[in-house]
Amino acid sequence: MHVNSVLGLRLMAINEEDNLLQGINQYRTSLNLTALTKSDRAECLASEVADQFKKQPCTNTTGANTVPGTEPQISSFPNLLTKCHLNVTTTRDGQILPACVPNLDPTLVLSNFTKSLYSGYLNDTKFSGVGIGSEDNWIVVVLTTSTPEGNYSPGTNENNDADNGAAGLSPIGAMVLLLVGLFMLM
Ligand SMILES: *[C@@H]1O[C@H](CO)[C@@H](O)[C@H](O)[C@H]1NC(C)=O
Ligand SMILES: *[C@@H]1O[C@H](CO)[C@@H](O)[C@H](O)[C@H]1NC(C)=O
Ligand SMILES: *[C@@H]1O[C@H](CO)[C@@H](O)[C@H](O)[C@H]1NC(C)=O
Ligand SMILES: *[C@@H]1O[C@H](CO)[C@@H](O)[C@H](O)[C@H]1NC(C)=O
Ligand SMILES: *[C@@H]1O[C@H](CO)[C@@H](O)[C@H](O)[C@H]1NC(C)=O
Repeated sequence: MHVNSVLGLRLMAINEEDNLLQGINQYRTSLNLTALTKSDRAECLASEVADQFKKQPCTNTTGANTVPGTEPQISSFPNLLTKCHLNVTTTRDGQILPACVPNLDPTLVLSNFTKSLYSGYLNDTKFSGVGIGSEDNWIVVVLTTSTPEGNYSPGTNENNDADNGAAGLSPIGAMVLLLVGLFMLM
């Protein structure tokens, strides 16, 4: 019984992610833009970010309601990238859009993306891929580009590439600085 209800919640969340993807692509179609295609690694990162946010309650200053410049920081962001086999080189032009909506109400979720400042990213021709993840009341959209700086192709961060030994030496400090830039959400 308990296992079933947990499974049920997980299935609802996946359904909610698909609904949002459809809604976003309908929005783009209505603007004559190409539909976004799913990116597994962007989805991985979206799920990890949602997992970080899930303990924060929804307020009128979280998610899509965030006042620009006051976005919450993700403490372990470099670790999240590593978990998803990504690095900052191929993700810096991407965009991470977190929203907090009680019970992920489908109508409010969609309008939080299409009728907020986030719409300025969703209607941007430079984005071509998307990954969506959710945890509790949080749902996170990660947008990717088709350029090397934002296509979320796998980054070297496991040091298993013989002729790329330098990657293992890259200073964490420099990465963190770049990541701060990535998190200037608006
Ligand atoms: C989309 O394209 C159609 C057909 O070319 C055109 O009639 C319509 O005005 C366009 N819509 C937008 C929002 O650009
Ligand atoms: C957010 O909610 C608080 C308390 O309900 C209210 O005082 C404040 O004006 C609201 N802020 C915005 C930006 O809506
Ligand atoms: C976003 O979701 C919140 C609930 O957390 C809701 O109060 C707000 O009206 C929504 N904003 C938009 C633009 O849909
Ligand atoms: C995209 O959305 C932003 C914010 O809503 C708006 O200012 C801009 O005009 C839109 N651009 C296009 C091409 O629809
Ligand atoms: C990220 O991965 C790419 C592709 O493997 C590599 O060329 C680049 O040097 C890596 N960047 C960092 C900062 O590790």
